[in-house]
Amino acid sequence: MSWPYHFIDVSDDQKHERRVLLDRYGICAQLSVLVPILGFQLYRLAIWVSSARSRAKTAYSEVPGSPMLKYRRPSTSRTLGRKWRSASWYLSDEFVPSWGRRGRLIGAGIWTAWLLFLCVHKTGDDYMHITKRFGEVAASQFPFHYMLSMKSFASPVAFLLHSSHEDLMPYHQISGRIIWVLLVQHGSWYLNSFIQRGILLQILTSNRAVILGMIAITFMNIIASSSLAIVRKWNYRAFFLVHVVLGISLPILLFFHASHMRIYMVEALAIFIIDVIARKLNTITGFATITKVPNTKLLKINLLLPESKLARFQAAAGQHVYLNIPHESTPPRTSNPSIHDLLYNPFTVAEVSDSSITLVVRSLKGPTSKALDMLSTSSKSRPPINIEGPYGASKKFPNLANYDRILLVGGGVGATFVLPIYRDVRDQLETEGKSPENVHLVWSMRSRYEAAWLSANTDDSLEKHANVQLYYTRTALDDHRDEIAPEDGSIELFDNMSLVQGNTEMPSGRHERPDLGKIVDDVFRLGFEETVAILVCGPTKLASDLRKHVGAWVGQGREVFWHDESFGL
Ligand SMILES: Cc1cc2nc3c(=O)[nH]c(=O)nc-3n(C[C@H](O)[C@H](O)[C@H](O)COP(=O)(O)OP(=O)(O)OC[C@H]3O[C@@H](n4cnc5c(N)ncnc54)[C@H](O)[C@@H]3O)c2cc1C
Ligand SMILES: NC(=O)c1ccc[n+]([C@@H]2O[C@H](COP(=O)([O-])OP(=O)(O)OC[C@H]3O[C@@H](n4cnc5c(N)ncnc54)[C@H](OP(=O)(O)O)[C@@H]3O)[C@@H](O)[C@H]2O)c1
Repeated sequence: MSWPYHFIDVSDDQKHERRVLLDRYGICAQLSVLVPILGFQLYRLAIWVSSARSRAKTAYSEVPGSPMLKYRRPSTSRTLGRKWRSASWYLSDEFVPSWGRRGRLIGAGIWTAWLLFLCVHKTGDDYMHITKRFGEVAASQFPFHYMLSMKSFASPVAFLLHSSHEDLMPYHQISGRIIWVLLVQHGSWYLNSFIQRGILLQILTSNRAVILGMIAITFMNIIASSSLAIVRKWNYRAFFLVHVVLGISLPILLFFHASHMRIYMVEALAIFIIDVIARKLNTITGFATITKVPNTKLLKINLLLPESKLARFQAAAGQHVYLNIPHESTPPRTSNPSIHDLLYNPFTVAEVSDSSITLVVRSLKGPTSKALDMLSTSSKSRPPINIEGPYGASKKFPNLANYDRILLVGGGVGATFVLPIYRDVRDQLETEGKSPENVHLVWSMRSRYEAAWLSANTDDSLEKHANVQLYYTRTALDDHRDEIAPEDGSIELFDNMSLVQGNTEMPSGRHERPDLGKIVDDVFRLGFEETVAILVCGPTKLASDLRKHVGAWVGQGREVFWHDESFGL
């Protein structure tokens, strides 16, 4: 088969016809995002109808007495349900670690194929038509791409998909990669045409549209490479700054690059501005008390907030906020104070009282946690801190108390997410007259001192709960070895050890890593027909190991609600 595209001479009428087709395909590509959104609404409706029907059936059917008989009871809907659950679990598993979920990758493949079809369809053998079509279709995706990145309550996609910004973030990443591929195609096909016609140098130096287009593609390449997980891990600020600065510049450049792209770029910028305004409206300044949790690298931050704002924090457990350090609170020895203007770091709301919220922060090497650490020792009492939020997927969870068993697993500061949920579900079970022992909590932490941020409430001590398992995997000394170990001897070390091990009021637990396989098996074996909700927050490996063990039970047909809070960033 020979190469199908050629440089052809087109008349003005043909040019007009080509433009009409280009615009039509751009609009079609833009509006086709409504198809998956509509599909999702139909899916939710189908799930709702099916669960309403099965509830009605269960109410009237004769139910065998023993759990084993119940489990073995044959039924077509049961088999279908089991297959559906296994398939959904398989699709939400990672294809290759850190590549994202299988289902998302399949969705991304289908979406890319659809957009490529729109790039090619009815372009005939006109080389310039397909070249322009790549650009048109890429531009048409900008508004939806910006919508997927919206954090604020104004996000229409989050509203329609009954989702939250952290759930939508992976789709924003996928959409960004697709736009990048299409724009690179657009640019390289154009460059090839200039080379073929021998006008490359001349056009690259004199044509404004081409120069702006080349700058836009360079920006797109910088955004794509700085968004790689390895760069985000290495320096989140670099990724963030590049993303914000070039992310705003790109629609402006493309606005001036080609007139037919303008509508999409205006839409994208409008979405960006609406999100910024909504986020500002969702930001409040609270006065903080920052204290170090002894013998750990944890900071406890108590923020006084007005009652009106607290109601939203009380509405759901397990929400998070974005924390920003304003000018007046920036510690004096900060090397680059202006960096804080742009930094908003996420932290989970560990506790909510009638007047304040509490955050627990592991002090790391980055600018925000370093500044908070400095503030904990500064003489400034109650420094003002900006808080944006609350946000989180927990508002959209199904009612956890409706599950027969709930297993909550927290690793280190991940307990800031699972502990409030644990308390919330226990309270709800008690109110509904169900056994609070149906909720199990596993919390693995470096040392028992890491639990000291919990507000002292002797009536509600975790140790009194039969279904709470605490694990201590290191000594408190591990965290401080560099600071307190003497260079030449062990006398000082011994003193410090006795100091850190002296507090007897810490909760007791096992000095080992939790055996996740056994914990999961024990919960699932409690009832063969029981539905189980599992929520985890902590190190990535902890969550992925836990998921593997749960997967074995899903494979056997068990109904599971799974939530891993460590969302991909
Ligand atoms: C939803 C959520 C809740 C969290 N809750 C807690 C908590 O309760 N306690 C705790 O100690 N840690 C929590 N973390 C981790 C915490 O955000 C980082 O440890 C913290 O931002 C590090 O700040 P830094 O100044 O030391 O480092 P930085 O260099 O500023 O950031 C280090 C890492 O933090 C993450 N991060 C920073 N800013 C953002 C952002 N705007 N959006 C998403 N991720 C970002 C990135 O993974 C980045 O690589 C949470 C993370 C997430 C995503
Ligand atoms: N909402 C959120 O998204 C959110 C909220 C809070 C925290 N987080 C994230 O949670 C993580 C917690 O960090 P951290 O520094 O507090 O954790 P950490 O101290 O390094 O680890 C916590 C505990 O988990 C144990 N652990 C780790 N991997 C395990 C595995 N595979 N099996 C069994 N136990 C395992 C550790 O044991 P060892 O000591 O033996 O390693 C330790 O006891 C961070 O990545 C943070 O960003 C996310």
